[in-house]
Amino acid sequence: MSVSVLFVCLGNICRSPLAEAALRQECAATGLNIIIDSAGTGDWHVGHAPDKRAQAVAIRNGVDISHFRGRQVSAADFHDFDHVIALDNQNLSDLKAMKPASAVVEISLLSDHVAGRAGEDVADPYYGEEADFDQTWAEVTEAARNLRKLLEAE
Ligand code: 4NP
Repeated sequence: MSVSVLFVCLGNICRSPLAEAALRQECAATGLNIIIDSAGTGDWHVGHAPDKRAQAVAIRNGVDISHFRGRQVSAADFHDFDHVIALDNQNLSDLKAMKPASAVVEISLLSDHVAGRAGEDVADPYYGEEADFDQTWAEVTEAARNLRKLLEAE
C-alpha cells in the first residue's frame, strides 16, 4: 500500500495546497509514488480554488494547482493517512485535539522536517503580498525535499 500524506493549514487555499504541490512535484521528479492531499481546519473555503496568488507562485515554479479544491479535515483523515502534517503550531494543536483515540497516524509540524527550523510556523501569507507567497514556496519546497527522502525509506 502507498504511503499517504495530508498537509493541513487553516484555509486550505494558500499554504497546504502549496505544500501538496511541492511534494507532488518532488515525487514526480524522483519517481516516488505516494498519495498526497491537503485540507484546512476551517470550512470557509470548502470547494474553492486556491488563492490566486498561491496559484501564481505555483505556476512560476512549474506546477498548476488551479484544479485543487478546498476541503475541511475530517475524523476519517486520521485513519486514511499515514502522515498528517500541520503548517503551523495552531494547526498542529487543532489536529492533535481532533485525532480520534483509535487512529495510528503520525502528526507532525512541517518545519520539523527542515534542519534548523524545528518548531517554527510556516507564516500565513493570506494577508501578505506576492513576496510572502514566494517565501511560503521556498519553505514548503525545502520541507518537501526532506519529506520525500523520509517517505522513500518507509
Ligand atoms: P491558509 O491561509 O491557511 O494558508 O490557506 C488562509 C486563507 C484564508 C483564511 C485564513 C488563512 N481565511 O480566514 O479566510
